[in-house]
Amino acid sequence: MDRDTYLVVMVIACGLIATLSMMLFSEPDPQAVNRKQTMERSAWRDSTPSLPDERDVQLVTGDEPIQELLVKAGCAVCHSIPGVPAAKGRQGPRLVLGETGPRRLSDPNYHGSATTVREYIMESILTPDAYIVPGYPEHVMPRWYGRKLNATALNRIVRYLETLTSFE
Ligand code: HEC
Repeated sequence: MDRDTYLVVMVIACGLIATLSMMLFSEPDPQAVNRKQTMERSAWRDSTPSLPDERDVQLVTGDEPIQELLVKAGCAVCHSIPGVPAAKGRQGPRLVLGETGPRRLSDPNYHGSATTVREYIMESILTPDAYIVPGYPEHVMPRWYGRKLNATALNRIVRYLETLTSFE
């Protein structure tokens, strides 16, 4: 190898080493990291589009027709509810509390603080962890409804649900 060729090879080698070390040791661009995380988050949300997020659930006044109330609050996404044609969800049990309510209260595994079906329904919405319906996963029924629904809306929902049986 003559002197000139040797120099050219050296220059190329130095360039390669410099580029490699920049790639290895440079700080990641924080904006690029943010962009990547945002993309991952939205990919996750796109893959589970059916479950309502607290931010997506609309505020209700409580004066809406009961069907509209249950749909806007997101209940219809996870529950099927007699009298609410749009409510065909399968994540949670069919809401027929007129029938299932007394059964939950007499379940020996029930350790919540409700003594009436009305109280049981209110408890299921506000503190779902108090009792998990057998056969269903915990932590799926949202725990933020106490922040999202006002007293009017909650009472209307409870009074509607307590009347429901599967024969309607
Ligand atoms: C993301 C899905 C999801 C949403 C949204 C949801 N629920 Fe549920 N719900 C569940 C699951 C799962 C259970 C059963 C597990 C448990 O007991 O927590 C459940 C349980 C219940 C129960 C107890 C039912 C029984 O048979 O004992 C009631 C009542 C209830 N939900 C009412 C509501 C109401 C009212 C809304 C809307 C304000 C609502 N849920 C929104 C998933 C959901």
